[in-house]
Amino acid sequence: MRDPPQPGTASPRTRRDVGPQGSNTLRRGCRSRATGGAVAGAEVTFTAAAEYIQEPRWSQWGSATELPAADVAAGTPAAEEAETGVYTGYNTMNMALAVPADGRVIACDINVDFVNIGKPFWREAEVDQKIDLRIKPAVETLDELLQAGEAETFDFAFIDADKVNYGLYYEKCLQLIRKGGVIAIDNVLWGGKVLRPGDDRDTLSIVKLNEKIYTDSRVNMSMLSIADGLTLVFKL
Ligand SMILES: C[S@@+](CC[C@H](N)C(=O)[O-])C[C@H]1O[C@@H](n2cnc3c(N)ncnc32)[C@H](O)[C@@H]1O
Repeated sequence: MRDPPQPGTASPRTRRDVGPQGSNTLRRGCRSRATGGAVAGAEVTFTAAAEYIQEPRWSQWGSATELPAADVAAGTPAAEEAETGVYTGYNTMNMALAVPADGRVIACDINVDFVNIGKPFWREAEVDQKIDLRIKPAVETLDELLQAGEAETFDFAFIDADKVNYGLYYEKCLQLIRKGGVIAIDNVLWGGKVLRPGDDRDTLSIVKLNEKIYTDSRVNMSMLSIADGLTLVFKL
């Protein structure tokens, strides 16, 4: 196996290499608003990290969530954000860049090997102290936060872990988010399979959540038909 990529050592790539998904214009706009372009080098290296895993089932495209993450966190002292499904943590890093110095990002994953690949880049971006990594099923972490009295204290949540639990993540994140806070939900189109879910459990779970959110009087929602589909939910 090759050595894992190190910060700043990846060979330059074009932005098109970053992943099969997403609009480059949106990515650029999000990045410049959220981070001033400071993490472009890290994005290149994170792509190398995904290739290192050699099973790049998930491409990182944190830029699309940088925009809501940054806007919601802007001017909010001690902003709090949560991500279910960290993978190598590129998006986690972008969220941590978006929160102020005393903010924090609760990062939930069950696979420490993936996360360890990204950790050096969190340090390089000087955001590692803002990231509270919890290696256990995300449902458990969200429950712990609720039991600790953290309901209505979060500004932003990103749901991107296992699809069968999307409904649970939504309900728990909705409790954690303050009024006016935002939840971003990735893969809501699921490669188009939501049109013909058949008996696939992941697809059925996504369809069920899409339908629930569409008529949910607790929120305003906007489903963006970019990449694999991204729903933004605004808590009323
Ligand atoms: C699509 S990837 C996340 C990509 C990441 N959000 C990004 O933007 O780069 C899904 C991640 O969810 C994690 N995962 C799967 N089941 C989980 C669970 N029950 N709890 C927490 N994380 C889980 C996987 O280990 C994987 O790292």
